[in-house]
Amino acid sequence: MKYKKYFRKTSLKQKGVGEFFLNEIAKKNPKKFLEVGVFHGVTARNVCELLYSTRGQDFKYVGLDLFAETLENQKEVIPNTKFSNPIKNLYFNYIKRQNPYSLEAVNDLLKKFKDNVSLIKGNSNILLKKIDMSKIDFVFLDGGHDYQTVKNDLDCCKDVVINGGTILCDDYDLSYAPGVKKAIDEFSSEHGLRCSIICNDRFAKIEKN
Ligand SMILES: C[S@@+](CC[C@H](N)C(=O)[O-])C[C@H]1O[C@@H](n2cnc3c(N)ncnc32)[C@H](O)[C@@H]1O
Repeated sequence: MKYKKYFRKTSLKQKGVGEFFLNEIAKKNPKKFLEVGVFHGVTARNVCELLYSTRGQDFKYVGLDLFAETLENQKEVIPNTKFSNPIKNLYFNYIKRQNPYSLEAVNDLLKKFKDNVSLIKGNSNILLKKIDMSKIDFVFLDGGHDYQTVKNDLDCCKDVVINGGTILCDDYDLSYAPGVKKAIDEFSSEHGLRCSIICNDRFAKIEKN
């Protein structure tokens, strides 16, 4: 399945990466998907389109993001939310009249799937503890890249893997965010989980051994 960009920004922009990612999801065909770090909602929309094509209405997508440009944790790396393409700025400022990095805009992008989608605004360090993980069978972890945040996110999602599901982490081996790799390596070895590094070191896939 082709990964579409929907005139917005996404971290899966590199050629072939979006398709690789969708193929990983298609192999598992999850019923309840959690994305930590929704950003403009491009991956969310692609995941919903994919799951709708395979499961019809029988799926849920839960997405969590700060949806805020300023952070209490200054160690975090927030992706640049501004477009360099002036046509995209005109489109969002004058036609859509939306900030594409907002809960409202992402809900709008996903409105075709409104009965399947729940978006939550807030910090994963606080909110993930409150999410019932028992039905979630696939997590895409792409939120905060600080070591403590990734460690916390993984700890909160541990039951997903214990129950037979998958955690796919983005940006495994980034030179400017070494905490991601450190947290993933520690988490996998502490809990005796299989961690496969795939797509040219881009993703870490964590599953039960
Ligand atoms: C790399 S972007 C996500 C890209 C998106 N998954 C995609 O495929 O296009 C990371 C996102 O994580 C969010 N984020 C960073 N720290 C977070 C935290 N502690 N809790 C929730 N979201 C966080 C940022 O606001 C940002 O939108």
